[in-house]
Amino acid sequence: MAEVSQHTLKLHQKVSIITGGASGIGEATARLFAKHGAVVVIADIQDEQGQQVADSIGSERCTYFRCDVADEQQVIAVVNFTVNSYGRLDIMFSNAGILSTSKQTVLDLDLTQFDRLYAVNARGTAACVKHAARAMVEKRVRGNIICTASVAASRGGSSRTDYVMAKHAVVGLVRSASKQLGVHGIRVNCVSPSAVVTSLSKRSPEAAKKTMELYESLSSLKGIELTVDRVAEAVLFLASESSSYITGHDLAVDGGLTKLPDADDLN
Ligand SMILES: NC(=O)c1ccc[n+]([C@@H]2O[C@H](COP(=O)([O-])OP(=O)(O)OC[C@H]3O[C@@H](n4cnc5c(N)ncnc54)[C@H](O)[C@@H]3O)[C@@H](O)[C@H]2O)c1
Repeated sequence: MAEVSQHTLKLHQKVSIITGGASGIGEATARLFAKHGAVVVIADIQDEQGQQVADSIGSERCTYFRCDVADEQQVIAVVNFTVNSYGRLDIMFSNAGILSTSKQTVLDLDLTQFDRLYAVNARGTAACVKHAARAMVEKRVRGNIICTASVAASRGGSSRTDYVMAKHAVVGLVRSASKQLGVHGIRVNCVSPSAVVTSLSKRSPEAAKKTMELYESLSSLKGIELTVDRVAEAVLFLASESSSYITGHDLAVDGGLTKLPDADDLN
């Protein structure tokens, strides 16, 4: 990634929290935000990996804070830590997410797994939006909230019913919160990536390659693959003044995906 000059910093001195920032899309976004002058608090449950990412970005720009987004008290703690350490919160990127261990259809929906996934992907996102917004309103910050939804947030899937439902819930949350928070000048948007290789689906390199080929065949854009850096650029756009009149938007980062695969390669 090209170095960013002082004049083109898009997030100069902005204070941000990135949930799920220890790997994948969150990690790439943490690095890009820091490059653009932001202070980043990585909120994750992978302590070693999160700390390593923070150290490699540099302690003057990035801190790791353990936070399981499924626990509202831990979300409150990371928001309080950020405000107490840096004076305010400008940006919340609520990105942490998981997949179920089995690819359920509605006929074999395991409701214990469903509850666990919902606790992170839907309820956890709601807790992050709620407490980020409360901190912004309290400090009168015209802040920015971005969530990670998915191409699965706007279509039905042939499997992973719980994931598809939870990602639809994220878009509902973004649409409602954007209406409710606009009066405070707070923007709320989401990004919806198609398949990108990360640790999320724990696929072998061969299976990951097959998935990417499948998605390319179903996308309008050819000769280019989605990477975590490309998703991070879309998040940066939504977090910055470049998108100052955009709120309640679900930004697809999918190369013009025409339909979800019928197979189970759904993220
Ligand atoms: N990879 C894809 O193809 C894809 C496509 C569309 C959407 N997404 C979404 O992107 C987001 C990021 O996923 P990724 O692909 O970068 O995967 P990833 O596994 O690399 O990153 C997810 C991060 O979230 C963290 N996390 C998980 N549970 C958590 C919890 N309870 N509290 C705090 N942190 C937690 C993990 O430790 C990890 O660091 C997820 O919301 C996912 O649903 C991914």
